[in-house]
Amino acid sequence: MGTAIIGGTGVYDPGALEAAGEERVDTPWGEVHLQRGRRAGADLFFLARHGADHSVPPHRVNYRANIWALRELGVERILATAAVGSLNREMEPGAFVAVDQFIDQTRGRPGTFFDDRVVHTDLSEPYCTQMRQALAGAAQEMGIHLLSTGCYICTEGPRFETPAEIRAYRRWGADLVGMTGVPEVVLAREAGICYATVAQVTNYAAGVSPRPLSHQEVVEFMAHSALTMRQLFLAAVDRLAGQPRDCCCAALGGF
Ligand code: HPA
Repeated sequence: MGTAIIGGTGVYDPGALEAAGEERVDTPWGEVHLQRGRRAGADLFFLARHGADHSVPPHRVNYRANIWALRELGVERILATAAVGSLNREMEPGAFVAVDQFIDQTRGRPGTFFDDRVVHTDLSEPYCTQMRQALAGAAQEMGIHLLSTGCYICTEGPRFETPAEIRAYRRWGADLVGMTGVPEVVLAREAGICYATVAQVTNYAAGVSPRPLSHQEVVEFMAHSALTMRQLFLAAVDRLAGQPRDCCCAALGGF
């Protein structure tokens, strides 16, 4: 059983992968480049969501190719990072959150593998419960404060939000805002792959923060926490290594 880490903004380096090597996978949507290594006796892949040089903006990420490639490689679990702004004062910059729900505000991104047949995929539990539990256990053991729930709203980007949008999203129940979590989580479920995200709050969202937002600030913030994130993910991978999948992700998706 293989696992993959999808590294978002600020997380470009798989670290600690034994025998890491480059891998190229051809998919119906184009080529995907990633790194293959080993961890706990199984394959562990690392995929930089925005490309190794962070050249691909959120609305242009080839989400379908990425998830398809991972499925081709036999990946059954995906751990994804996400840099997010916070709408919730209890989730302050620096907080790690194991997201449990999302709201989709993207527009015009190809968001499904099911373009030519009618399939309605269940997303009552969008993020794998077994993986979220493993993350919680690993975080506790490592003394990392990981909030166990949070609602992520995905905007189209690449611009940041207006304060009026953020106020509206807060009323809808969103805690965190980012630009890349959807459709990645949806495609993973459609493909029957378990998927969990740890969001790292890099800033208060527009209007919650008194200052203008900058991408540079987000990148710099993530640089500080990339190592912690990586250690947390590797500990979760180790925990899950001996556990067969006992969640609903495979049964609800797959083709
Ligand atoms: N908005 C959207 N995406 C983000 C933010 C934000 O405030 N911070 C980090 N990613």
